[in-house]
Formats: sequence, structure tokens, C-alpha cells
Amino acid sequence: MGMSDLYGPADRAESLATIHAALAAGINLLDTGDFYGMGHNELLLREALRGRARERVVISVKFGALRDVKGGWTGIDGRPAAVKNFLAYSLQRLGTDYVDVYRLTRVDPAVPIEDTVGAIAEMVKAGHVRHVGLSETGADTMRRAHAVHPVCDLQIEYSLLSRGIEREILPTARELGIAITAYGVLSRGLLSGHWSKERAVAPGDIRGFLPRFAAANLGRNLALVEALRAVAAEKGTTVAAIAIAWVRSRGADVFPLIGARRRDRLTEALAALEIDLTAEDLARIEGAVPPGAAAGDRYATAQMAHLDSERGHSAR
Ligand SMILES: NC(=O)c1ccc[n+]([C@@H]2O[C@H](COP(=O)([O-])OP(=O)(O)OC[C@H]3O[C@@H](n4cnc5c(N)ncnc54)[C@H](OP(=O)(O)O)[C@@H]3O)[C@@H](O)[C@H]2O)c1
Repeated sequence: MGMSDLYGPADRAESLATIHAALAAGINLLDTGDFYGMGHNELLLREALRGRARERVVISVKFGALRDVKGGWTGIDGRPAAVKNFLAYSLQRLGTDYVDVYRLTRVDPAVPIEDTVGAIAEMVKAGHVRHVGLSETGADTMRRAHAVHPVCDLQIEYSLLSRGIEREILPTARELGIAITAYGVLSRGLLSGHWSKERAVAPGDIRGFLPRFAAANLGRNLALVEALRAVAAEKGTTVAAIAIAWVRSRGADVFPLIGARRRDRLTEALAALEIDLTAEDLARIEGAVPPGAAAGDRYATAQMAHLDSERGHSAR
């Protein structure tokens, strides 16, 4: 996402080099959205994957977000005809005849999830999609979708700062055999050890609008990061690596999705794979960043209202 949109300018050559370095390190899950830079990210992936065997990567695509020419967000479209239209364009941009996991980015309030998933299921039958995924849905929607076609994973924010899924969504996913693909594992950089009060936010970087980065909350959140840095230092590692290792420790069915857009960040993230957290480490980590400690919601109020996963819950 950050290679094409939403986090300020990205360097194209460095983005491609980062994807190549990830593949070389054995990473094979690549997540994108057709709306990330209005097709930019899918074209970037196509370029990165040129000349490589298609079956060696798992491409996960989100669709459904509507945008205008200035990049503004104008709604969600989960109608069956739209699903097939979005997919046709994605396959063309990606230069492939199938997507491994296809998911609606946000539930369309005007279209029953059964209809959207039913259309993806048709595309599975036709061989253009391998698996049905979900994004930011709550437990009820997960059950309804899974009843239409088996769902392989739910992509949802999950980190030391965002543990809301532990109450109902994670147990329901486990009951149904649905994996969790966790995003925002580094809380979009806030929980990376590289954010500071002094860091200027570039124009177009949505972090300028996210409540947890707002001046009123940032100091409290960075104090949590400093507490985590002390734990990381004792383990001889970094804040980012320990935050990723914590998400990995949640279970074999929880997959951290990391938004590295530079090779140095990727190297730092990969170090998490070498960390084994003991029960004592976990207690110290959760002592530094207790559940619900984050100041501010994970999205601004208007976007929170679009999250099916937040119906009747607090994200904290
Ligand atoms: N389903 C959904 O609703 C949804 C929502 C958001 C994202 N996603 C998916 O999840 C992916 C990850 O999300 P995210 O980028 O917000 O999550 P993230 O991994 O929490 O944050 C990534 C950002 O953290 C900063 N960072 C600092 N140190 C890092 C390190 N060692 N490794 C990686 N990043 C580091 C980087 O910002 P700087 O480069 O500015 O330093 C980077 O862009 C996205 O690419 C997208 O595919 C899905």
C-alpha cells in the first residue's frame, strides 16, 4: 500500500528492490488493493514479478473502494457485477489469469455480503480466484460469508496497540477455521521505533489524519513505544522486530502483513523471524504495552463508521 499511496512519496526503484529482496528472503504473500494508487500498486507488482513463476507467489487483492480523479474516496461497491468488473481489471493490470485471494475491502452496506461472496465464489469456480478472503468484517458477517463459500482468511488490524479482535472476532475465526492476516502490525509506523514528535508528515500521508498520530495522543503512544524499546533492547533486538514477533506469537493461524517499503525496513522486519518469545518475554511486552493502552481510535470517526468489525465494539 505504502509503495503506491497513502503514506506520502515512495521511491519506485526502492519499492521494486524491496519486493525482490522480500521474495529472495522467502516471503511469498503479496497483498495489494486495486485502489492503492488507482491501479498503481498492481502495475508495480506486475513489474516486480516479471519473469518469475506465477505459482511461487500468493497474490491477495482487495477491491470495492471507489475513488475520484483526485484520489478522494467516494464509497464502496460490492455488487456482483462490480466484483466481476473489478476482477477483470485487476487480472489485466497484474498480468495474470488468477488471483490467489480476493476480498472486498469494506462491507458495502447496500449489498448483502452473501451476494458479494457469491460473486467471488463464481469466480473461484471459473478459475480466476483461488480463495475467498474478507477484510475488516465482524463476527456475524464472517459467519454469513463463510456459509456461502469457505473463507480462507480475514485481513484486519491487529497489533499490540489494536487488540479489539481478541474478544469476538479471533475466537469466531478460529471456530470457523479462518486465518487472520494482520495488518497495521507496526501501527503504520507508530509502533516501529522510528516515529517521533518531530517527524513531519508529508502531504498525502494519511497518518496526518489518524487519531493515534494526533498531537493530543502522540505523546502517550510514543511513551508506550519507549517502554517497548526497553524490552526490545534487553532481547538485543528492535521495537519493530519485537512488535512483529508478538503478533507472530498469537498463533500459527495469524500472519503478520508488513508494510516495509524500503530494504532497510524489510531487513529489520525479517529479524522478527529469529525471535522466540518466552512466557516471561510476553509478560514483559504486555506490561510495556497493556491491552487498551493506545490513545485514540485506529481510524478517524468517519472511517470508523465504515468498519463492520467495529459494530458495537471499541477497537482499543
Ligand atoms: N485491509 C485493510 O483495511 C488494510 C488497511 C491498511 C493496510 N492493509 C495492508 O496491510 C499492509 C501493511 O499495512 P501498513 O503498511 O499500514 O502496516 P505497518 O507494517 O504497520 O506500517 C508500515 C509502515 O511502518 C513504517 N516502518 C517503520 N519501520 C518499519 C519496519 N521495520 N518494517 C516495516 N515498516 C516499518 C514504514 O513507514 P515509513 O516508510 O514512512 O517509515 C511503513 O510504511 C499494507 O501494505 C496493505 O497491504 C490493509
